Amino acid sequence: MKEALTGTQLQAVLNQALAYTDKGKVAAYIPELAKEDPGQLGVSVCFPDGTMLSAGNVDVRFTLQSISKIFSLIIALCQNGQKHVFERVGKEPTGDPFNSIIKLETIKSHKPLNPMINAGAIAVAGMIQGENIDDRLNRVLDMLRKMTGNPAICVNEAVYCSEKSTADRNRALAWFLKDSGILTTDVEETLDLYFRYCSIEVSVKDIAHMGMVLAADGIDVQTGERFFPEEVARICKTFMVTCGMYNASGEFAIDVGIPAKSGVAGGIMACVPHRMGIGVFGPSLDEKGNSVAGIKLLALLSKEWKLGIF
Ligand code: DON
Repeated sequence: MKEALTGTQLQAVLNQALAYTDKGKVAAYIPELAKEDPGQLGVSVCFPDGTMLSAGNVDVRFTLQSISKIFSLIIALCQNGQKHVFERVGKEPTGDPFNSIIKLETIKSHKPLNPMINAGAIAVAGMIQGENIDDRLNRVLDMLRKMTGNPAICVNEAVYCSEKSTADRNRALAWFLKDSGILTTDVEETLDLYFRYCSIEVSVKDIAHMGMVLAADGIDVQTGERFFPEEVARICKTFMVTCGMYNASGEFAIDVGIPAKSGVAGGIMACVPHRMGIGVFGPSLDEKGNSVAGIKLLALLSKEWKLGIF
């Protein structure tokens, strides 16, 4: 059995992965994200006893983007139950890019194939209940603040406005969902909520904490506090394996083998069941929208410390 990971070893893995930061490009379709320095790379690992190891750009703040899809799904499942949610969004990987529209029309039910693609996450945002949009946003924000012990987590307004003013593809998806009866709430308001979820700002330490809660089936191991049911954690971790890295999920499952969710700001939240939560940030993305160096870093860690679940 390989000895426990140390900070020096984590730094060495990060140094190796750094060479890959020039192999991709920062996301440009959300103008505010295009300002990021592609050379950044940071990682944090959170263990069940609450200790953390970190290396690289650990204090840089970035937006969750699609990583938020896990947390809006958690709230939607807790509020509405599985039957309601999965009558409106499927459980299958698509093999298509995250913002693809094609299967919404070609599939008979018009149901988005899963909640990790944009169409599915917009449908999920429509299911979040609350008194008003702020309340619906706070259901997710409050859970993230408690899970991480970081009450300062909030929406990055510049990224939110930047996405809102350029999101015609997501608008098309949402109006299509409205037309087919999947979305029954106000379209612009639902999109607004979806953009806000995507613009929640975090650090790698925060997402390592979130990953650890998922790794512990929904509880904070330190306090025993439960944030969501074990069954909800199981569903989310399964989606992370089958759809978390979009149309690269199969390749990632073979090369890395850890449940993970990526976002176009460059974050990846990963969880090794009962062992650790991992947060990575590297804004240089491959053509499928996943952090190039982040994937490399996770592959190296997984291979050396036998973190794969298969
Ligand atoms: O809706 C979008 O396009 C973005 N707010 C989120 C997409 C995303 O993060 C895809 N991830 N790799």
